[in-house]
Amino acid sequence: MKYNKIKKEFFSFFKKKNHKIYKSYPIINKDNSKLFFINSGINQFKKFFLGKKKIKYTKIANIQKCIRITGKHNDLKSVGKDNYHHTLFEMLGNWSIGNYDIKKAIKYAWILLTKIYKICKKRIYVTIFKGNKNYKLKKDIETYKYWKKFVNKKHILFFGLKENFWKIDNFKLCGPCTEIHVDIRNNKSKNINNKKGYKLINKNNKYVIELWNIVNIKYLIKNNKIYKNNNLLSNNFIDTGMGIERLSMILQKKQSTYDTDIFKKIIKRIEEILNIKYKINKNHDFLIKLLSDHIRSIFIIFYNNIAPNNKKYGYILRKLIRRCLIFVYKILNINTPFLFKLIKIVYKNFYKKIILKKLIIIENKLKKEEIFFYKNIKDNIKLMDSYLKQEKNILKNKYIKKKTILYIYSTYGIPFFIIKNYAHKHNLKIENIKNFI
Ligand code: ALA
Repeated sequence: MKYNKIKKEFFSFFKKKNHKIYKSYPIINKDNSKLFFINSGINQFKKFFLGKKKIKYTKIANIQKCIRITGKHNDLKSVGKDNYHHTLFEMLGNWSIGNYDIKKAIKYAWILLTKIYKICKKRIYVTIFKGNKNYKLKKDIETYKYWKKFVNKKHILFFGLKENFWKIDNFKLCGPCTEIHVDIRNNKSKNINNKKGYKLINKNNKYVIELWNIVNIKYLIKNNKIYKNNNLLSNNFIDTGMGIERLSMILQKKQSTYDTDIFKKIIKRIEEILNIKYKINKNHDFLIKLLSDHIRSIFIIFYNNIAPNNKKYGYILRKLIRRCLIFVYKILNINTPFLFKLIKIVYKNFYKKIILKKLIIIENKLKKEEIFFYKNIKDNIKLMDSYLKQEKNILKNKYIKKKTILYIYSTYGIPFFIIKNYAHKHNLKIENIKNFI
C-alpha cells in the first residue's frame, strides 16, 4: 500500500469511528515549555488533557510531523546507520480525551492493522507494563487480559519503566503503555538472526521493530513523583502514535524505510545530483540515507519560516545543513552547492500544491547558506594554519589534542576531517574524536 493510501485509510477509519480529524500542528513548539520541536502528536492536545482548556471533541485523530533531534528523544546519531530511524517522521495518532478506554484503543489498533492494513497476525507482538515498586505502580493485568483475546500468549511480553511507561521531559502527563511490535524479517534477514521473534523485541533488532505506542495517560509526574490528577480520574485518556515511515516499510514489504515510496524519488534525485548509486557502496549508502533524511527536516524547518543562524532554531537548521555538506565533502570531495536542488522534490512529497514563491525563497536561502559554508572553510583554513603554526605545544610535540580540535571547530568552523587531513599533510599526530564530523 502506497504512502498516500495509508494516510487516506487511516483518516477514513477514524472518521468512521467518529473522530475529529485535526491538521498537523506547526513543527515549532510555541507553548513556552523546554520542548524545542513538536516531537509527538499529543503536544498540541496537552492543554486539553491537563484540563486547562475545554475541547469540543473527545475523540481525535491526526497525522503529525515530528522532529526528534534535541532533548531526550534524539535520533540524530542513528540516522544513516540503520534502516528505520529518522530526524523527521509523521506520526499517525488517535486520542481519547475522557471518552474511550484502553480496551477500545487496542481494538481500534488491532482492526486497523490486521483488517484494513492486513498485517499478518503471526508477525505481531505486544508489550505491556510489568509495574514498578519504587513508584508503587502495578503490573498492567487488565491490558494483558484484553490483549489475550487477539494475540497468542507467547506473543505478549512484559517490560518495565524504560520501555512501557511513557513520559516526556517537562510534559507532566504520563502512564503505562502497550506497544505493538512487528517482525518484518524475510528469508534473507532471518538468515542473519533466526531467533524467534519474541526474543528480539526491544533488542534494537533492525527487523523486529516497534510500530505503535498506545498510552493510557493515567498520571501526572512532577519532581519525579507520580500522582493522580482530578482531571484524569476517569481513566479514559488515551494517547497513541505510530510512524508512517515504519508502517509504509511493513505494508510495502521492504526491509528499510528508505526503500519505501516516501524516499524513492528523493533518493533518485540525490543519485542524479551527486552521480552516485544507492546500494552499491556502503559509504555512499550511508550518505544517501543521511541526506534523504536530513533534507526533509531542513525543508520543514525552512517551511516554518526559520532561517539558518546561530540562535535556537536557526542553529539547529544550520547544524543539519552542515552535517549534509560536511559528509558530502568528506566522502565525495564535493564542495559546491547541491543541497538546494533537493528542495522541490521534498516539497512535492509533503504538499500537493507547491507555492512557487515559497519554493524559490527556500531554495535561495539554502543555496546562500551552502555558499557561505564553503567560503567560510576556505577563508578559515588560512587562519587555522597560522593558529596551529603559532601553537608552541603542537610544534614541540607534533600532536593536535582534542581540546585544540574543538577550539578550531568552534572558532573557525573547520570540520574534523579537514583538520585530520591538515595534520596528515604536516606530519602531525592527531587525537581521534569518534562521532565528530
Ligand atoms: N506520545 C506517544 C509517543 O510518542 C504515543 O510514543
